[in-house]
Amino acid sequence: MTTADALRIKGGEPVSGTVRVSGAKNSTLPILAASLMATEPCEITGVPNLRDVETMVELMGILGMRVSWDKKNRRMEVAPENPRHEAPYSLVKKMRASVLVLGPILARLGKAKVSMPGGCAIGVRPINLHLKALQQMGARIEVEGGYVLAECSRLKGTNIVFDKVTVTGTENVLMAAVLADGVTTIENSAREPEVTELCQVLRKMGAQIEGEGTPTITVKGVDELRGFSHHVMPDRIEAATLLMIGPITGGRIRVEGGNPGHLDAVLLKLREAGIEIEIYPDGAMEAWRGGDSILPVECSTWPYPGFPTDVQAQLMALLSLAKGTSMITENIFEDRFQHVAELSRMGANITVSDRKAVIQGVDHLTGAPVMASDLRASASLVLAALAAKGESIVSRVYHLDRGYEQLDKKLAALGVEIERIKQPVG
Ligand code: UD1
Repeated sequence: MTTADALRIKGGEPVSGTVRVSGAKNSTLPILAASLMATEPCEITGVPNLRDVETMVELMGILGMRVSWDKKNRRMEVAPENPRHEAPYSLVKKMRASVLVLGPILARLGKAKVSMPGGCAIGVRPINLHLKALQQMGARIEVEGGYVLAECSRLKGTNIVFDKVTVTGTENVLMAAVLADGVTTIENSAREPEVTELCQVLRKMGAQIEGEGTPTITVKGVDELRGFSHHVMPDRIEAATLLMIGPITGGRIRVEGGNPGHLDAVLLKLREAGIEIEIYPDGAMEAWRGGDSILPVECSTWPYPGFPTDVQAQLMALLSLAKGTSMITENIFEDRFQHVAELSRMGANITVSDRKAVIQGVDHLTGAPVMASDLRASASLVLAALAAKGESIVSRVYHLDRGYEQLDKKLAALGVEIERIKQPVG
């Protein structure tokens, strides 16, 4: 019999205490991709132990890198051994971010064969903008048999204007540009802290980059990149999720190791919802309900520094308990409301029309069996389960394990009654 992990959670009690943020998944993945271009060994510390990182490590092995990962000490060493250019469907289908290897392999080897990622639970998520930009840099690109086949002698610097802000698109082009011939400017580039951190790493490798964190990044190509040593920044999405544990359950939570500077939009919205947030000089954050109730808010997701789409589902869980009617507009992904049906099973009152969700706050949620559909949806269901009276079973937690390091253990340490169980599937 095939089984899958699920979480049994007993909710309805205030959760208080201290919890620590892990390293950022969305930084670790592009940093690993960047190491494909190094001619020397690289060291990455603060690496979170996540399923997506495992997938990337597997992919790095296939691409001819030697990776040793000391999970206990969160330290990884990556060294080039026998560089190869083919990223197979079996791995890319597990994780869309695998497409981040396209720019680096093409720049380093002059050819790349990378599986197309295909659709996913939160929408179509094409890579047309990545491909168009690489073509503008002189790559010959064909899509054949589900694979992107790309070739070039040496990529050439040029002026790229993205039609739409894309995080991994910006990262892919950035990495391709650092080994290109001449200067590349990337306009309408993503300003996410993970992009900024990737630029820091590339600079450690010898790249010449200016303007990260602004809409225009300029890259002057170099001939070769050396190894680097880098400590991954804290995961801002995990930090935001953990911060809601206090207010959603009526407890008081202290989140350590995060970077409040990356959370401006989230903190602003939470404060608007009546959540008290204290920030300490060392970056620790504490959150609790300021009054008896959570207040309704309106919120729209935008590229950074706007409110992150990756926190939308978790905010919705919180607002499902607000006193009054809230509205959330999802501007980034067209189909990212799959948690709504599951939150409704717990008693939430939410209606969706196109990209807008109207959340009529209810007095309480009730425990129920629910199913996670994607990474952030699963986090919202866990938050709701913590607040809900009685027992919930959140199934398909492999989604959660992709991007939240040992969330069940972190919750257990906060005194939550939580257990990982096996459920039959099929
Ligand atoms: C990254 C994050 C993900 C986050 C998302 C938005 C990583 C590994 N993942 O995903 O957690 O939810 O940013 O903040 O960092 N688009 C196109 N064509 C393209 C590329 C994107 O139309 O070629 C569209 C997408 O469909 C979406 C929007 O652009 O509507 C933004 O997507 P993008 O920023 O590219 O998301 P990812 O980089 O895949």
